[in-house]
Amino acid sequence: MADEGRETVAVTIDGIEHQVPAGDFVIKAAEDLGTYIPRFCWHRRMKPVGMCRMCLVEIETPRGKVLTTSCTTLVSDGMGVETESPVVKKAQEGVLEFLLVNHPLDCPVCDRGGECPLQDHTVAFGPGESRFVEEKRHFEKPIEISDLVYLDRERCILCARCTRFSEEISGDALIEFKDRGNGTQIQTFPDEPFTSYFSVNTVEICPVGALTARPYRFRARPWDLEAVESVSLVDTVHSKASVQSSMNELVRINGIDSEPTSHGWLSDKDRFMYQYVNSPERLTDPLVRDDNGDLVKASWGEALDLVADRLAQYPGFQVAGIGGARGTNEESYAFGKFMRTVIVSPHVDAQLGDGLDPQFLVGANPRARISDLETARAILLWAGDLKEELPVLYLRVRRAVTALGATLIVVHPRRTGLGDVASHKFTYRPGAGSEMLNDLAKGRKKVFRDLRAELASGPVVTIVGRTGLTEDPRLAEAVAAFARDLPQAKLMPIVRRGNTFGALDMGLAPTLLPGRVSARNDTARAELETHWGPLPAGEGFDTWGILDGLAKGDLKALVLMGADPVRDFPSPQISRAALDAAEFVVAFDLFLSDSSRLADVVLPVEGFAETEGTVTNLEGRVQKVNRKLPGPGRSRPSWSVLEDLSRRMGGLAGAVSAEAIMNEIATVAPAYRDVTWDALDWGSGRDGIVAESDDQLAYVPVNPNLQEAPADGLSLHLARVLYDDGLLTRMSPALHALMCEPHVYLHPADAADLAVGPGDLVSVTGDQGHAELTVAVDPGLAPQTAYVPFNLPATADLGASASVSLEPVGGGD
Ligand code: SF4
Ligand code: FES
Repeated sequence: MADEGRETVAVTIDGIEHQVPAGDFVIKAAEDLGTYIPRFCWHRRMKPVGMCRMCLVEIETPRGKVLTTSCTTLVSDGMGVETESPVVKKAQEGVLEFLLVNHPLDCPVCDRGGECPLQDHTVAFGPGESRFVEEKRHFEKPIEISDLVYLDRERCILCARCTRFSEEISGDALIEFKDRGNGTQIQTFPDEPFTSYFSVNTVEICPVGALTARPYRFRARPWDLEAVESVSLVDTVHSKASVQSSMNELVRINGIDSEPTSHGWLSDKDRFMYQYVNSPERLTDPLVRDDNGDLVKASWGEALDLVADRLAQYPGFQVAGIGGARGTNEESYAFGKFMRTVIVSPHVDAQLGDGLDPQFLVGANPRARISDLETARAILLWAGDLKEELPVLYLRVRRAVTALGATLIVVHPRRTGLGDVASHKFTYRPGAGSEMLNDLAKGRKKVFRDLRAELASGPVVTIVGRTGLTEDPRLAEAVAAFARDLPQAKLMPIVRRGNTFGALDMGLAPTLLPGRVSARNDTARAELETHWGPLPAGEGFDTWGILDGLAKGDLKALVLMGADPVRDFPSPQISRAALDAAEFVVAFDLFLSDSSRLADVVLPVEGFAETEGTVTNLEGRVQKVNRKLPGPGRSRPSWSVLEDLSRRMGGLAGAVSAEAIMNEIATVAPAYRDVTWDALDWGSGRDGIVAESDDQLAYVPVNPNLQEAPADGLSLHLARVLYDDGLLTRMSPALHALMCEPHVYLHPADAADLAVGPGDLVSVTGDQGHAELTVAVDPGLAPQTAYVPFNLPATADLGASASVSLEPVGGGD
């Protein structure tokens, strides 16, 4: 079947004529028509190299038939291709016989055994018997080339998939061929481990077991595995993934090629953060605080009676709810409905004080899809460092620039992971972002006039978010208001935490109702009240307001839905004080987190791969997540716990399954009217459904005309890194060794002014707290800025102060 809208040519494959898209390689055109040509080096997401010769076919030419590689030959009109002729079969047998000259045949102890293309091709296309009896090559094995990847060199068939992935796709060419001829081998560079954030993609695409993933090595065999399709909830891209278990334990997550989102790639965090699901520290029973102040096990009945009794003591407006962004849409919907109709409180928020205006996030107009990056002429990226926060989106932007020729403009307080491919990079001191935006919008300097010229021809996609936790969130909206007027502009507002977009779409924000509806929209409120009954009057508090209200005593009780504000909120001092001051806290959680430890009741709930449901990504794409395992002990899905609690408190009920809740969402949430459970079921080609807002719901960003000024002293740039000390990362042992080194980063000029150098220990003090950190020097950082990674054990108490001062610790000159 030809791709819609592309010119086609007539090609005859094995005697049958087809129309295929012009510009395709023969191997791809044949595969799309159902004819599989064996291959090792070719991969549909990378450029062809023609190295393995496994894909040989015969092609008719004016000079007769020639044997050629189908992965490097483009289709042409009138072409005739033979994929199974005797000549082709003889060639395939020869290629395999040569590949097996040195391949060790340690299949019984190789992770790839049972799912190895070399094994499979040998059975399907091989000679049956080899004429080579000589001793095979031997290497020391395995070599640990990173904390996650082992290399068995003698298994390598030199297909260059791993090297091309690292160079073309992830842009960190840390693995390469070394030596020549029979001695050619895959290697990393001396003293430089394979520290890519995407390293285990090479394991997945290696056609033999030369590269293996340490956490999976010897854990299971393919025939032991059971798998379901799902998506990764590590961030808001929602990369499609195969979730695999053996003996009732999750053991592996592999990527699944999905054209709209991930192209099959996953970050290493996507791959290994499943380990928390198996953690022995998972909560198995409800816990209630006894007279001694200890959390002790209780039955569900006791715990829920206590929660219902305590929450009923307060008027609804004195109770607040935080969380939902780690769960499914159904859990978020049930949580919002419980808070607004059973507790009758307007104070609900899924963001933890580090995001953007919820109406802007879900209603930005015109909203971009990830696939818009494929046709963009220019991409303006004024947001967090994508490599650290949304790694698979980083890969898509990188591809748009390096493979498709888009111009990339990056604006950030420091050089980010995309700095090497950006045509323009602007750094600014935190607090000076609005000034830079004004300069850009008004073309005040030549460099900005040149940039405006580059942005003059669209389509332009603007990815916008908070560059760091100390930045005013309204700056992002000001950037969007500017970018909206660029030619054929599309906006992609981003935040990082798992299912934030789904939770906001389900109304988990003080200013939103389910289905991307403003809580100030009286018609929509009235419509929702016909389904839900009366809603609380007035607008609620966001997380900052909730924590402030608890600390002041205006709010009395708090429901935490999988949220850990003590570690995951910009100012832990504020959240700790709020939780200490609260009269009653109930936490729905997987673990005893720093926050749920402070709760009066902790309810164990099921998490990733244990509950089924739907989730919504940063484009508004709704996809299903599936259940692979039961939760531990007596844990239950959050929506079912909320259902029990609602009944005890005399509220609305009716949730009997995730599917039933999804059907209710489709009824009451305007943007989800066309999203049905059945249409979302997985299967080939199912990539979810983008929930579209109609024009009435669209939100047009306006410039709030910020009057910012950088604070005195060093401005603090506090930003997230991929491997931080978040609870779920902490509970995933494979990621421990990868945790970011805690440093305070300074511009070389500032380090010189302060008379400190790399490795010096300094005390970093802001108005909320302090941290002792070693200095690292970063010339890519804006001057007068101190960059500190957020949420590492050593930086957890610093807080999001606007500025900091530095003092050498002990022995500083
Ligand atoms: Fe190919 Fe694997 Fe060898 Fe890399 S290690 S060249 S992916 S066989
Ligand atoms: Fe064509 Fe390797 S797949 S040469």
